[in-house]
Amino acid sequence: MSVIVITGANGEIGHSLVEYLAERGEKIVALDLKPMSDELSAKCEKVFIGDILDTSILEELESYDIKGIYHLAALLSTTAEKFPDLAQKVNVEGTHQLLHIAQKVGKRRNVPVKFLFPSTIAVYGIPTLEQKMQAAAIHEDQFLTPMTMYGVNKLYCEHLGRYFADRYKQLSHDKESGFIDFRAVRFPGLISAFTVPSGGTSDYGPEMIHCAAQNKHYNCFVRPDTQIPFMAMPDGVRALVELAHAPLQKLTRKVYNIGAFAPTAEEFYHLVQKAFPGASVAFEPDVRRQGIVDSWCADVVDTAAQNDWGWKAEYDFERTFFEYVVPNIKQRYA
Ligand SMILES: NC(=O)c1ccc[n+]([C@@H]2O[C@H](COP(=O)([O-])OP(=O)(O)OC[C@H]3O[C@@H](n4cnc5c(N)ncnc54)[C@H](O)[C@@H]3O)[C@@H](O)[C@H]2O)c1
Repeated sequence: MSVIVITGANGEIGHSLVEYLAERGEKIVALDLKPMSDELSAKCEKVFIGDILDTSILEELESYDIKGIYHLAALLSTTAEKFPDLAQKVNVEGTHQLLHIAQKVGKRRNVPVKFLFPSTIAVYGIPTLEQKMQAAAIHEDQFLTPMTMYGVNKLYCEHLGRYFADRYKQLSHDKESGFIDFRAVRFPGLISAFTVPSGGTSDYGPEMIHCAAQNKHYNCFVRPDTQIPFMAMPDGVRALVELAHAPLQKLTRKVYNIGAFAPTAEEFYHLVQKAFPGASVAFEPDVRRQGIVDSWCADVVDTAAQNDWGWKAEYDFERTFFEYVVPNIKQRYA
């Protein structure tokens, strides 16, 4: 029985991804630091509660016939900036350890293990706000000088994945590369109606929505003119799975931008007002978090994903609010 491993399964994306794959009959082996609900655990064949750095768990994982790995476990941007040394361990060493497991399983089964990696627009680091607004939407190979530990970690892991896939132990006599099929998307900020984000720096968007839905006041930590790309969670999960299923020969790169919509914080506020009339929001920029968001791109060019594997967001900004967020979030907080 071949399985799909999901690390960070108890997180925002993990919740949606476990449901999505379980509904499609996949056998899931989950791993997370934090205990998962009974409901979510019931959708998995096996759940490991523990650290991605725990070698005894990784050894157990290795015994499974793993066909794919969605490696979601990570510290997000704000948390990683508070604890950069821990972020290095979890985000980089955790990914390195898991690539080793994938390598060994791929070699044992003689079938490459698909390794899906959720990278981020935080790998971009645009020096000034003027340059950011001038550049507007950017390609995968522009401005790759991240200004946060999180962005540095993710950019390095993109390269690590490429190295393991194509060049691992390239000077050894035995064949060691080709046992991992590494693929990555650079996610924009994701908006979920079911889970509340924490530890990210794009959290102001989803936080504004979740506060409005609960009639709570929200102090937005960026300026109204702040612009970065966002995406509805169902599109984010679908993107990962569609990339996993794309024929390898069609892929011209290992790491793809994926876009949906790119509102300013003020436009976010206007739509929140429309969805939840009377929503109370004040803009109180936090200088340091503002600086991080200002270094991220205003939008992305995702033509490579469109051309190579048919990527297309199904949820635009309005549809995200009125067909996905509002009905589900009202039920959540009822
Ligand atoms: N949510 C977004 O907007 C977004 C955007 C870009 C990229 N991503 C990436 O997608 C992935 C998932 O993001 P998310 O939003 O679900 O984050 P999240 O914080 O909700 O989930 C991460 C999960 O990883 C787990 N985890 C953390 N450290 C761990 C460790 N040492 N061992 C095992 N598990 C550990 C946490 O308990 C958590 O459940 C991350 O890699 C993140 O960098 C997310």
